[in-house]
Order: sequence, then C-alpha cells, then structure tokens
Amino acid sequence: MPSLLILNGPNLNLLGLRQPEVYGSVTLSDIEEVCQARASALGFDMTFFQSNHEGLLVDAIHDARGTHDGIALNAGAFTHTSIALMDAITSVELPCVEVHLSNIHAREEFRHRSYIAPVALGQICGFGAQSYLLAIDALASHLGQL
Ligand code: DQA
Repeated sequence: MPSLLILNGPNLNLLGLRQPEVYGSVTLSDIEEVCQARASALGFDMTFFQSNHEGLLVDAIHDARGTHDGIALNAGAFTHTSIALMDAITSVELPCVEVHLSNIHAREEFRHRSYIAPVALGQICGFGAQSYLLAIDALASHLGQL
C-alpha cells in the first residue's frame, strides 16, 4: 500500500490555541484525524510527524526515502528560512506538496518567500485545515491513486 508522510514544523503543535483568527480553531490532532480518513478512502498508509526543530524535520525527510511515496509538508516559519529543508526535499527525490493553512501571499512580505516551493510539486495555501486534504489529493493524483 502506498504511504504518505504528513510533516508539520514549528508551532503547529499549538493549532487551536495559536492565533485562531489566522489559523482557525482546529487542533493538529483534528487535522490528523481527517487526513487519516482521507488516506484510508484513497488506499494510503499515512504517518504524521511534527517537530519544532529543524534538524528533526530534516531527519524525518531523510527517513521518508524508501518508506513513504510522498510528503505533504507544512514547514511553518522554516518555509521562509530553511535552505536545509529545501536541500533535504531535493535529496530524497520524493514528491512533496507544500501546505499552509493561511494564504502566505496575503500576509507579511517575509512570508511571501518560500524555500520549499521551488522543490515542491506545488503549493497549497489559504484553505485552513482543508489545505491538508487538498495536498493529499494532489499527491494521490500525482501517484496515480486518484
Ligand atoms: C503557516 C504559515 C507560516 O508563515 C507560519 O510561520 C506558520 C504557519 C501556515 O500554515 O499558514 O507557522 O505555515
């Protein structure tokens, strides 16, 4: 069975509490629950990992090689700073969809730049928790499962 990794970066463990006017009131575990349901419907195994530490996210991307068939990545603020995450995605040669709850292009200028976008299949942002489901569908379509 094909397998996807849903990877979340810094501060996303605080979803539900953190700036609900920007990110909504759903928690990360709520999001994981709906992602799991979508994955099962599409015939995917799904693994979730969240870390506030850049190196642990790099390790998770490395470990995905040979284990998972695609990655949905919300790198949080590391999106706008991390060449290490960009290089990790390039290195493992797995399809990656960049995900954001908020529309990063409608926010502060520093959020408009993404180091993930150039190495991702594409970017989905601005749809709240639904962004994750759209990313799963995009990966499923890319992998021929949809
Ligand atoms: C975010 C957008 C980032 O700019 C921000 O730093 C986050 C969350 C989003 O999902 O909208 O932590 O990735």
